[in-house]
Amino acid sequence: MDPHGHLLDPAVGEIVVSEAQLQARIGELGKQITDDYQDRAPLLVGVLKGAFMFMADLARHIALPVEFDFMAVSSYGSATKSSGVVRIVKDLDLDLSGRHVLLVEDIIDSGLTLEYLRKNLLARHPASVDVCALLLREGLQKRDPNLRYVGFRIPPDFVIGYGLDVAERYRNLPYIASYQGDGDP
Ligand code: IMP
Ligand code: MG
Repeated sequence: MDPHGHLLDPAVGEIVVSEAQLQARIGELGKQITDDYQDRAPLLVGVLKGAFMFMADLARHIALPVEFDFMAVSSYGSATKSSGVVRIVKDLDLDLSGRHVLLVEDIIDSGLTLEYLRKNLLARHPASVDVCALLLREGLQKRDPNLRYVGFRIPPDFVIGYGLDVAERYRNLPYIASYQGDGDP
């Protein structure tokens, strides 16, 4: 067992961002968002499934009347390489026109999923769209992903935990760890 009582799994590698680091940084992000959105309550749009845990913790630190919506997307291509061709698996319930949208993402890798999502959301005539990403994998984006809020910049290793999965596992780990499993995640 690890200190949280999770069964030791050899695929769970080094801790990249600890639970304490996550919670401290998410508190800071929430405070920053609270300051920035004083006069325009944000609509938080979470990208399922990876962002669910981050969104829940982040929202607890935003001292404003926020609203929530979610969308689920799946990227065509292999499990590890995003093609940039994204399919909406679950669309938003709410109308975005005139809303201040804050898109909440788990990790920006190539940035292609985000590029698609931003265009898609902007086409719905919101008042603004900004992005809050928990993790930014450094050096992999061809274009500037233009992120207003970033939790942590991380090295290239594939990571799991705190919403992030391999084949739907490990999302419940309260920290981010590198993935040491066999083969391609
Ligand atoms: P992008 O389009 O290449 O930026 O891919 C972003 C998406 O790929 C994220 O929203 C995740 O769902 C997934 N992803 C990218 N890197 C990782 C990782 O290290 N662990 C788990 N999922 C990842
Ligand atoms: Mg995702």
